[in-house]
Amino acid sequence: MKVSELLQQIDRGALPAHIAIIMDGNGRWARKRGLPRVAGHRAGINAVRQVVEGSAELGISVLTLYAFSLDNWKRPHIEVTTLMQLLKEYLNKELENIHKNNIRFRTIGRTEALDASVRAELEKGVSRTRNNTGMLFNVALNYGGRAEIVDAVNRLLNNGGKELAATGGISEKDFAQYLYTAGQPDPDLLIRTSGELRISNFLLWQIAYAEIWVTETLWPDFEKQHLYQAIIAFQKRERRYGGLEPQLVPTLALGDRKM
Ligand code: FPP
Repeated sequence: MKVSELLQQIDRGALPAHIAIIMDGNGRWARKRGLPRVAGHRAGINAVRQVVEGSAELGISVLTLYAFSLDNWKRPHIEVTTLMQLLKEYLNKELENIHKNNIRFRTIGRTEALDASVRAELEKGVSRTRNNTGMLFNVALNYGGRAEIVDAVNRLLNNGGKELAATGGISEKDFAQYLYTAGQPDPDLLIRTSGELRISNFLLWQIAYAEIWVTETLWPDFEKQHLYQAIIAFQKRERRYGGLEPQLVPTLALGDRKM
C-alpha cells in the first residue's frame, strides 16, 4: 500500500497522545551488509528524522525515543563514543529544523553522567526549543526505567516524603510528578523494531496501559509508512484498561442482578 493511502487511513481524531519507540536492530542491519555496527547506528539517524517529522506532521503531542540505556555502557568503547558523536551531529544538524517545526526538545535519563560536550549540545537543544508549543520530543539517554523510579523515590524522600507518609502517603498521580516525564501523558503506543518482544527497562511506570506494536523491520529501515502502520493498528485495538468491552457491561450487570 502507498504511503499516502496509509496516511488517509489514520483517524486524526483518535491519535495516540504519546508514542514511545524502542529503536532496535541497527547492529543487525549493519551485519547484513558486512558493515561495522556503528554504520547501523549512523543509518538509524535517518529513521529518527522520519519519525520526528512524521509524528509532528500528524500532530502527535509527545514522541519519546530510546537512544541510550544505562546498560549500553557495556558495549565496546568505540560504539559508545560513536553513539554520542551521532547524537551531537544529529542535534547540530537538525536543531534549527526541529525549532522551525515548533518542536520542544527534551531529554529523560541520567544525562548528568554524560560527557560535557554531549551535555552542552543537549542543553543547547533544550534551551533553543524551550518555548515551542508543538510536539514534545523526548530522547531517553543514559536511561533506565527502574533507575527512573528510584530517582523519583529519592526526590520524593528529599521533598518531605516523611511528612507525606504521615499524612496518608501519596497517590499514583502524585508519584508520577516525580518521574522524568512529569506532566506528560503516558505513552498510548509503544513501538519496537527488529522483532524483539522485550520492554528492555523502558518507561516501566508509564507504559502500564500502552498498546505494544512490534515490527520485524530493523530500525535503519523504519520509515514514515511504518509509523503510519503502527498508528493504524493502534486505532483498531480496543483499550479496556482492565475493564470490559463496553457492550458486555450491561449484560453482566443484568446477570449480576439475577443472582
Ligand atoms: C539499538 O540497536 C539501537 C541503539 C542502542 C541506539 C539507537 C541510536 C540511534 C539510532 C542514534 C542516535 C539517536 C538519536 C535520537 C539522534 P542495536 O545496536 O541494539 O541493534 P542489534 O540488536 O541489531 O545489535
